[in-house]
Amino acid sequence: MSTPLRLGIAGLGTVGIGVVKIVQQHAAMITARTGREVVITAVSARSRTKNRDADLSGYAWEDDPLALATRGDVDIFVELMGGSDGPALDATRAAIAAGKDVVTANKAMLAIHGQDLAETAEAAGHVIRFEAAVAGGIPVVKVLTEGLAGNRIKRVMGVMNGTCNYILTRMESSGLPYGDVFDEAAQLGYLEADPNLDVGGIDAGHKLALLASVAFGTRVSFDAVELEGIQRISIEDIRQAADMGFKIKLLGVAQMTGRGLEQRMSPCLVPDDSPLGQLQGGTNMVVLEGDSVGQIVLRGAGAGMGPTASAVMSDVMDIARGIRVSTFGQPATTLVAAVSAKANAPAPFYLRMQLLDKPGALAKIATALGDAGISIDRMRQYGHENSSAPVLIVTHKTTRDALDHALAGCATTGVLTGDPVAIRIEAV
Ligand code: HSE
Repeated sequence: MSTPLRLGIAGLGTVGIGVVKIVQQHAAMITARTGREVVITAVSARSRTKNRDADLSGYAWEDDPLALATRGDVDIFVELMGGSDGPALDATRAAIAAGKDVVTANKAMLAIHGQDLAETAEAAGHVIRFEAAVAGGIPVVKVLTEGLAGNRIKRVMGVMNGTCNYILTRMESSGLPYGDVFDEAAQLGYLEADPNLDVGGIDAGHKLALLASVAFGTRVSFDAVELEGIQRISIEDIRQAADMGFKIKLLGVAQMTGRGLEQRMSPCLVPDDSPLGQLQGGTNMVVLEGDSVGQIVLRGAGAGMGPTASAVMSDVMDIARGIRVSTFGQPATTLVAAVSAKANAPAPFYLRMQLLDKPGALAKIATALGDAGISIDRMRQYGHENSSAPVLIVTHKTTRDALDHALAGCATTGVLTGDPVAIRIEAV
């Protein structure tokens, strides 16, 4: 039997304690599966006195994560603090410099510094693994880097922020407006400390950028992700979409096109009978499309103690087994800097507009769309409110550029009484 593999865990929140519990409860199973004992030697967190529902007495305590990261009795620095910069980044850099492997759940740090960190670690013969950073318990990084390694990936899609999916599905089931459900999610503790990370699509955008790198062999380029959050989704849109057989999801899509790499995280309509359309509550789903395998759908908990700790342990146990896959599935120095392309693949769009209820108003909108080359698939006017009439339009396939041009034309007609809502209908 080889020497034990020694973990130093920085961050003892929900996920850190989840890892402690798995290591303690499944020690024999982990050793049987990896051929190596996995032990925790030291831990670090902001507060030593906090009650954590786990026995930490057997582990050395470090107040400073940098001290933990550089201890002689730590082989893997398990970074579960979070934050793109600051202590998490400093300690990760220190761990790599001190010759440690790193396992992290930190999507923000890797989305911004992943290339640099991976190059540094790999140059020194070490690995950084991040299964827990993307879609919680869903082993999507492993599926891409190992299970689908022989495929050219065509498209990666996913609902990867459970909080947003909770808010959108709860709005539909309760009929409550966005603001009320947002407050409910806050009370339930579902929101990140900065809620914009969730509802602004940033957290899910980080995850998409990481997956795109693994899927397409490109350098992580979070700045190139076109981001739109769910803050403007109204209960009216959810109702009208449902009426037409669609659900609204905060959907990430990454695909390599002839023009370059498209990455977008934005609200989309998806058919309500599709796997993505049926996704309820805080659950995540990732859809992968490869040239040989076709479509793979992965569904599971995107956050929480057990699921996220499960993903951390997957990385730890790979290292215990001697499996040392490069951070992004191939050596970091071989990742190419992809040309970023504006997402402009044609798709049908859902449009909701408030029009003045007077003769010719609808005709003016139809003309503005027609002038921009946009063909209408379906259109209906419903429930008059005062002097303005709500109108729903589903277009035939068009590009976002053409749509923006058409909406600018609609704005000049003088018949709109508010900003139109435009949401892409994604073929899934
Ligand atoms: N806030 C995230 C979510 C947690 O709601 O999915 C995991 O990143």
